[in-house]
Amino acid sequence: MKSKHWIVGNWKMNGSRQAVQQWLAEWQLGCNKLTASASRLEILVCPPAIYLPFFAEQITTNNISRLKLVGQNVSAYLQGAYTGELSAAMLQDYQCSHVLIGHSERRQLFAETDEVVAQKVATAQAQGLRPILCVGETQAQREQQATESVVTAQLDSVLKRIGAEKLAQAIIAYEPIWAIGTGLSATPEQAQAVHASIRAWLGNKRVGFTPLLYGGSVSPDNAAAVLRQPDIDGVLVGGASLVADSFLKICAVLT
Ligand code: 13P
Repeated sequence: MKSKHWIVGNWKMNGSRQAVQQWLAEWQLGCNKLTASASRLEILVCPPAIYLPFFAEQITTNNISRLKLVGQNVSAYLQGAYTGELSAAMLQDYQCSHVLIGHSERRQLFAETDEVVAQKVATAQAQGLRPILCVGETQAQREQQATESVVTAQLDSVLKRIGAEKLAQAIIAYEPIWAIGTGLSATPEQAQAVHASIRAWLGNKRVGFTPLLYGGSVSPDNAAAVLRQPDIDGVLVGGASLVADSFLKICAVLT
């Protein structure tokens, strides 16, 4: 029996000021219906950075409960001449407690290397933000049976940089790239198999318990089966988190 589950909504580059307001209004109405067992859920949302202040303000003003805020990205640097970047301290100024690092879209579309990802994790942790470190393989890598080696190489570069004790304080999200935004979710068994191999790798490296989340076309229809897998501690939800009602349904699947 897991003591806790993590449900994380990643809005990516979607939404508007009006959409935030509507989403939060619907969330506030619906979240009262989450039952007592939902107290074992950590519920987090990653809005686009520009809406973080508005999110934070609305949460405080309207006394909206249960939601923690997450940055979608963070600079590897503390401050200075890095035009367009946001520092860990800036995210914390707007109530972020966590940050996504190394999402496959950052790795693939914005050329973030394992080295940069490791540096970002180190900086975020040094500033007191909890990283949600994303890893995952492409379709071609899966077909070459390279899933495990790709994922563990991604983790290993972070481990080498920060050490086992710090890695245990992060959250790891396994997101197979072929399952992101495609509607083609990994089956619960496929996801569990990779999670089990990550868990074994962490054990070999003497990394203490680290929550492992699955992401890739998670929806209200498949979330329960995914979350019941023994090595899956939560889900990282893209498209289905944009509609408050479907995100609430995912939060309610285990209750
Ligand atoms: P989808 O749920 O839209 O497939 O996105 C997954 C994801 O990338 C979350 O970070």
